[in-house]
Amino acid sequence: MAFATRHFVRTAASAAAATAAAKKLIVKHVAVIGGGLMGAGIAQVAAASGHTVVLVDQSDEILKKSAKGIEESLKRVAKKKFADKPEAGVEFIEKTLKNLTTSTDAVAVVHSTDLVIEAIVENQEIKKELFKRLDKFAPEHTIFASNTSSLQITELANSTTRQDRFGGLHFFNPVPMMKLVEVIKTPMTSQKTFESLVDFSKAVGKSPVSCKDTPGFIVNRLLVPYMMEAVRLFERGTCWDIDAGFSLFIKLSIFSLGDASKEDIDVAMKLGAGYPMGPFELLDYVGLDTSKYIIDGWHSLEPNNPLFAPSPLLNKLVEEKKLGKKTGEGFYKYK
Ligand code: NAI
Repeated sequence: MAFATRHFVRTAASAAAATAAAKKLIVKHVAVIGGGLMGAGIAQVAAASGHTVVLVDQSDEILKKSAKGIEESLKRVAKKKFADKPEAGVEFIEKTLKNLTTSTDAVAVVHSTDLVIEAIVENQEIKKELFKRLDKFAPEHTIFASNTSSLQITELANSTTRQDRFGGLHFFNPVPMMKLVEVIKTPMTSQKTFESLVDFSKAVGKSPVSCKDTPGFIVNRLLVPYMMEAVRLFERGTCWDIDAGFSLFIKLSIFSLGDASKEDIDVAMKLGAGYPMGPFELLDYVGLDTSKYIIDGWHSLEPNNPLFAPSPLLNKLVEEKKLGKKTGEGFYKYK
């Protein structure tokens, strides 16, 4: 009987431990690494939904710009959300900003965080180096997530020792407006981590969908080849053979040689397909460097896939640092 009781107690205790271990993590403290277009938006929605957030970037100057952008964005959200109650809008902004701090020291920040969301430059080696470093300092329970658009989450997870607490959390631009988050589960991501990420996505007001760790997940796998095809349609009519370097240069500036102008392609897709933005507007919005990284990465994985072929014109614009809206010029000019 004593044995049976002891056995029961032990079984009950290990069951309780197993339940505790299987319990989802309720994320309260978030570190967002990278205060650019995406990181600032993610920090904003996380802070607005009651999480304490530290936004990390490489310099105070960048962080000042991010903070200003967040404040402006919050004003727009408040104006819309509290149209009839401006005082409630002011309170919403104040509360959100109270939840948000900035830092240039990622290592110090991850000591006390439940979730690290990485949104730095789309470069595998730089991301891996960051995760490897932070893995040493983050607590055991902390979940790591990447907002990468195109890199393999599994590859990034392998730079850490917490592969079971690692997943993809792919937000869309502009984060405060776009409802979707793709939650990516690698073969090593635990169910508990996956569910915690789904819950966090819901807590910040988004609609999560799940996808395996496959190139481009759902949206970009369909969207990026479409945008690249638009660039090819625009480029067509120009002569891209390697021997024609000089004529290529001349023809690059004669955009009317393409099958259609970028303006007409944008109008066509908006009015004919009902898209809210044309492909060139979207490319400028996303950032031409980000789009180039994506297509170059996929091209190296599948060099014979015509959908993943690089574009000479896109490469040229990136080389000239015409990266889209964020630099004031991409396919279009912005004031
Ligand atoms: P961005 O260029 O606007 O911002 C990246 C930021 O990361 C910069 O402020 C940079 O200073 C900072 N950074 C770079 N290395 C860092 C480091 N080691 N530590 C801290 N900060 C660092 O880029 P964006 O557009 O925000 O993209 C970020 C990530 O989000 C990329 O992985 C991209 O693929 C992904 N993404 C981008 C979308 C878009 O529409 N732009 C949409 C969804 C995902």
